[in-house]
Amino acid sequence: MKVSSFLHFAGFGIKTILFKKKDPILGTVILTDKCNLHCKHCSVNNITAVIHPYEQIKGEMRQLYDMGVRILFFCGGETFMWKDSGKNLRDLVIEAKEMGFLIVNVVTNGTFPIDLPEADLILLSLDGDKERHNMVRGDTYDTIMGNIASATSDNICFYMAINQINKDHVRDVCITARDTKNVRAVSFNFHTPYPDTRELALSKEEKKECCDVIKQMMKEKCPVFNLKSAFPYLINNSFPTPCHQCVVIENGKVSTCGRCIDVPGLCDECGYFFVAEYTLLFKGNFKIIFDMLRTYLKYI
Ligand SMILES: C[S@@+](CC[C@H](N)C(=O)[O-])C[C@H]1O[C@@H](n2cnc3c(N)ncnc32)[C@H](O)[C@@H]1O
Ligand code: SF4
Ligand code: SF4
Repeated sequence: MKVSSFLHFAGFGIKTILFKKKDPILGTVILTDKCNLHCKHCSVNNITAVIHPYEQIKGEMRQLYDMGVRILFFCGGETFMWKDSGKNLRDLVIEAKEMGFLIVNVVTNGTFPIDLPEADLILLSLDGDKERHNMVRGDTYDTIMGNIASATSDNICFYMAINQINKDHVRDVCITARDTKNVRAVSFNFHTPYPDTRELALSKEEKKECCDVIKQMMKEKCPVFNLKSAFPYLINNSFPTPCHQCVVIENGKVSTCGRCIDVPGLCDECGYFFVAEYTLLFKGNFKIIFDMLRTYLKYI
């Protein structure tokens, strides 16, 4: 990370903590909900299957920038399916950087060729060993591994949503992250139980077992892009929600925290690690602050 970016984030953090401010710093633009997959745990694919037009996306990026957002995520649906007016995902990443976003990340299912060297991180969903991943995501594991091997940059971070299908395969993903070329780290979430996927949720005990495995893998030098100090809060769902420093924009609608904000009761069972990490950080939790400095400076 550039020194100037670090100073911007440090200034934002200090102001937010001292004055209990609620301004956003992290924003997500949903490019489309169209997707080539129908993963078992996912409730947000192919509801409209509309690819939002380039000018609209550009306007949404500008809107987030004007709100103060400096960490931008592109998400979907499948982000690599986005194309409009002769522009593709890579053009959007480059334009986001030119607009002034300090960190630009993309979330993808990894089934398309990966040529995004300008992104800070490509969060690529991998949901277990080959067998479990394919149970969740269809027969995609080998294609994804091929795309990673031929990626044009080493900015890939695995993104695993841990649920009832793959909860015993956290270790596999950690080791694959450590041993695969072009992969820098792995980041986890627990399944967030939307009404149609409640059966995939983990119990408190199961979450604890997963966190114990992740801690052990950290000791074994696997690159985990999460904060160990947030684990107790994630296990107990005792972190504050929603995250006021995070916003998402989808087809012109801005929501605080996630597009899931309107699902009744869901925030009490939220499994997204970033929510715990950011809300605890901006409450001024010292352990989280130090852990975040160490982790972010290592991987971005
Ligand atoms: C909705 S997908 C969109 C980007 C891309 N299609 C992909 O699969 O990475 C973004 C991430 O959310 C995760 N996800 C989907 N539903 C979830 C849920 N209910 N709880 C936790 N993570 C979930 C996916 O596994 C994926 O890592
Ligand atoms: S690839 Fe991503 S958006 Fe598509 S169904 Fe799977 S989790 Fe959902
Ligand atoms: S806290 Fe609520 S809105 Fe935010 S990601 Fe979790 S479930 Fe979604």
